[in-house]
Amino acid sequence: MPAAFDLTVRSSSGEYHVRIGERTFEELLSAARSAFVIADERFATRLGDMDGRLLLISADEKNKTHSEVEHAIESLRDLGAGRGDELIAVGGGIVQDVATAVAQLYMRGLRWTYAPTTLLAMCDSCIGGKSSLNVGGYKNLAGSFHPPALVVVDPVFLGTLPDEDRAGGLCEAMKISFCRGPEAFERYLERYGAYERDPGETGALLHHALAAKTWFIEIDEFDQAERRLLNFGHTFGHALEAATDFAVSHGIGVGIGVVCAERVATFVDGENAAQPRLVDHALELVRQAPRISERLSAVDHDRFERAFLSDKKHRDDGLHLILPGPEGSIAERVLAREPGTLRTVRAALEETTRMVGA
Ligand SMILES: NC(=O)c1ccc[n+]([C@@H]2O[C@H](COP(=O)([O-])OP(=O)(O)OC[C@H]3O[C@@H](n4cnc5c(N)ncnc54)[C@H](O)[C@@H]3O)[C@@H](O)[C@H]2O)c1
Repeated sequence: MPAAFDLTVRSSSGEYHVRIGERTFEELLSAARSAFVIADERFATRLGDMDGRLLLISADEKNKTHSEVEHAIESLRDLGAGRGDELIAVGGGIVQDVATAVAQLYMRGLRWTYAPTTLLAMCDSCIGGKSSLNVGGYKNLAGSFHPPALVVVDPVFLGTLPDEDRAGGLCEAMKISFCRGPEAFERYLERYGAYERDPGETGALLHHALAAKTWFIEIDEFDQAERRLLNFGHTFGHALEAATDFAVSHGIGVGIGVVCAERVATFVDGENAAQPRLVDHALELVRQAPRISERLSAVDHDRFERAFLSDKKHRDDGLHLILPGPEGSIAERVLAREPGTLRTVRAALEETTRMVGA
């Protein structure tokens, strides 16, 4: 059965394909009978024992480490994987990050296929080839690029996803589409509406977000210029994650961060920079996360500010933020590292918190 949607991504290590559609995962497993599988342990029953070729990982941030990668490499060796074998990774972003590193390092590189199981991974992280590992107390401090040979996106996995993760994934799809330009954002809103009415439209929504992301990763694979725009909302989002001890999830943090960034843009540039459709949609998504107002009110503002200032995207010339501008434009801006900027950032967070609770 052909996939409902296909996409090709060009990367420096070759082209890879993305197949989106129902039953694509089942087809993948029956076509790759001798592959080794590295999977989120929650799918153990669904996968069976894979004739002794299955490696399970607990999808916990504390396992996104070099020692987990080393453990997986050793286990693959014990299971008898050779240089010509294929690896299939099944899970969300944590399994993806570990599997990317394992596939890159094992015997100097295995061909691998990724089957994402969260909405965030399906509409965003599954393409781009990045892996990130946590080191010491630092999230995503180490990483590399090693794209899969194939990505298989089967919405079948979404049935068990909690509301917060579903809404968080949509926040990333919203952000990618907005960054791609006004027309892509309009198409996203249409496809979101269709998906809300009929879950059968999920594939079209995922395809739209991935096609929009493809433009960025092809033009700037290694994150030096255009791809940096996809950090829209992330400086605020990461700071919120840190200031709530990760009680605000990544995707929801990005949704809130998008609103904060829009508020900063209007404080700095005036109402011309306002993006009411984006803000309304982001608020609609973010409010789907249970007790989000309560969690936002518990933000430790000092920790938020410290995390905001230590974002790795800032440089010596000032604080680097991705901000929207007139007519749905978006740009990387440099704001002075001074108390006035911090007051603006704090005011943006306070106003966003009020808007979420309104
Ligand atoms: N490499 C990249 O390009 C990239 C990009 C964005 C994020 N990330 C990383 O991804 C991680 C977040 O990934 P994520 O949000 O996809 O999820 P995850 O892998 O962190 O999983 C979150 C939880 O969802 C569960 N889960 C996974 N699939 C499920 C399903 N279908 N039904 C029910 N529960 C399911 C997991 O078991 C886990 O408990 C972070 O560590 C982040 O840094 C990586």
